[in-house]
Amino acid sequence: MSEPSLLLTIAVLGGTGKEGKGLAYRWAKAGYRVLIGSRTPEKAQAAALELIAKVGDKAFVEGTSNEKAAQAADIAVLTVPYAAHRATLEQLRPVLQGKILIDVTVPLVPPKVTKVQMPPAGSAALEALEILGPDAQIATAFQNISHEHLMSDDPIECEVLVTGVSKAVRQEALKLVEAAGLTGWDAGPLENSVVVEGLTSVLIHINKQYNSTHAGIKITGVAAPPELPNTDH
Ligand SMILES: NC(=O)c1ccc[n+]([C@@H]2O[C@H](COP(=O)([O-])OP(=O)(O)OC[C@H]3O[C@@H](n4cnc5c(N)ncnc54)[C@H](OP(=O)(O)O)[C@@H]3O)[C@@H](O)[C@H]2O)c1
Repeated sequence: MSEPSLLLTIAVLGGTGKEGKGLAYRWAKAGYRVLIGSRTPEKAQAAALELIAKVGDKAFVEGTSNEKAAQAADIAVLTVPYAAHRATLEQLRPVLQGKILIDVTVPLVPPKVTKVQMPPAGSAALEALEILGPDAQIATAFQNISHEHLMSDDPIECEVLVTGVSKAVRQEALKLVEAAGLTGWDAGPLENSVVVEGLTSVLIHINKQYNSTHAGIKITGVAAPPELPNTDH
């Protein structure tokens, strides 16, 4: 585990849920300070205790409201169902100003989650940009990684495509992908997130068709991505 004071504080908004808790687990295990955000602080505190029990006493995980978590963090990660995406971002807009936001949201529209159904903005990522404003520091990642993989300690074969409004923002997100024990690729501008978000429905469809739970993607034909300069922030 790295020296915690050297690492960023990450707020996982909606971190009481499946995907957020999985990411929080991975980052807590890597020594990051993790704040679990929730609409109900007590629920977040319970999730934090659960993760400390899993990671060990040295883990720094705290639970609080989404607002306080976003306010106190260096970088925020959004893991709420698409139905809560707009309302959550509108509520948190003031506290997210000037911070990097990694949006994990996939705009699934139940019950047809195997069909790609993008919102009017074009994707969840572009909707986030519309809500937070043109200067928002938004990246997207992890939309194709299942929470079951994140919560296990096994290596994850599925790779992570990172999009974002700038190369600098994508680099910060890629550091957190690596910290979570995954291989990440710079997949270009935020507009490209539509493909990554859409892939989730494709992978769910493949899982259903082939009676699997583990469909994922891997980039081929390229040398492994170069080591990031420094994973400490
Ligand atoms: N699950 C996966 O394997 C997976 C994989 C890739 C991507 N994703 C994406 O990650 C996001 C989260 O997925 P999930 O499976 O973790 O979802 P989830 O467990 O159903 O919900 C996550 C959290 O969001 C909050 N939430 C739920 N409804 C809300 C509402 N109406 N308003 C505000 N907050 C609400 C809840 O937190 P509080 O009640 O504590 O506020 C909940 O614990 C989704 O966009 C999903 O598509 C999921």
